[in-house]
Amino acid sequence: MTTRLLDACLGKPVDATPIWLMRQAGRYLPEYRAIRERLSFIEMCRRPEVAAEITLQPLARFELDAAIIFADILLPLEGMGIGFHFAEDAGPVIEHPVRAAADLDSLRAGDPQTDVPFVLDALRLVSRELGGKVPLIGFAGAPFTLASYVIEGGHSRHYAEVKKLMYGAPATFERLMDLLTATVIAFLLAQLAAGAQVVQLFDSWVGALGPYDYERFAAPWSRKVLDAVGGHGAPVIHFANGASAMLPQVRAAGGDVIGVDWRIDLDRARDELGEGVAVQGNLDPVALLGPIAQVEARAADVLGRAHGRPGHIFNLGHGLLPQTPPDTVARLVAFVHDWQGER
Ligand code: CP3
Repeated sequence: MTTRLLDACLGKPVDATPIWLMRQAGRYLPEYRAIRERLSFIEMCRRPEVAAEITLQPLARFELDAAIIFADILLPLEGMGIGFHFAEDAGPVIEHPVRAAADLDSLRAGDPQTDVPFVLDALRLVSRELGGKVPLIGFAGAPFTLASYVIEGGHSRHYAEVKKLMYGAPATFERLMDLLTATVIAFLLAQLAAGAQVVQLFDSWVGALGPYDYERFAAPWSRKVLDAVGGHGAPVIHFANGASAMLPQVRAAGGDVIGVDWRIDLDRARDELGEGVAVQGNLDPVALLGPIAQVEARAADVLGRAHGRPGHIFNLGHGLLPQTPPDTVARLVAFVHDWQGER
């Protein structure tokens, strides 16, 4: 039983820096691809035994300090009345993007018990299987990141539709954000009740906003989620990708731990975040495609910049890429645990 991750989330000293990796359950593992050959991604998510098996796959290979439930930030959308599918190689596609007030008429706040019972069942299965050996992380997308999919209809380069709605029809944008916020809060609380011991809010695309817009169009809703989910005895990680130029604002929105992307040195990130909050990050995931000596040198740099202050969880600055060699992940995990520098 290791409580390293939970201790680090609370800023307590640890015997070794805890490490887990965003997208640790996924396509870089041949055992994941073997299951994926017979099932679509959504089917994998919808079958609790399969999702539980995939959640545990990386833990069977690597000495990771946490499991993250195999699911997706988009899963709760369906129950809200927002249909989507994953197109091969094109990522998620929202069937009827929200572009005007009338598009909201058929939408409702989701109910996790009826909309995504399979995620809750998978959490219960994994939680039983882990038996407290390492903590289980639940997660959800932050309202802005979900809204960006719902409005754009999929991946976007400039977030032009999102910004058009934000600026041109703020009341409509805010209604959508309110619906997403209620859905995300219920989803995260249900995950805690089903056995998640930590939850992470992924604000993956909030880097599309500058600080001025972040304050007005994203932070208030993230804050509502983080306030509602905090204080339940489970640490809350707030990961805001592309937000290294607005870390004080991200911290002000909440979270016991702030997840930092790789675009800023970790010591500078800590200085900007201030005391009283833990940090998670922040190796560039693409660095894992390079030679192992490079990976280790960069990992040592991240660890060194954690500055001997407690409250550091090692992670990547964003998710693992499918091309990542599993051996590199094994070496990274061992390197972080064996690191003898100050912590
Ligand atoms: O971290 C983990 O291992 C847990 C599983 C997890 C997945 N998605 C599985 C997944 C988590 C935490 C997510 C979160 C998620 N999903 C985010 C936030 C994290 C981030 O990367 O910023 C976002 C933006 C999504 C939306 C999403 N899901 C996209 C854009 C895609 C397609 C692009 C891609 O990376 O494949 C997915 C599909 C997806 N989610 C896969 C996996 C393993 C690939 C599915 C496949 O096998 O084809």
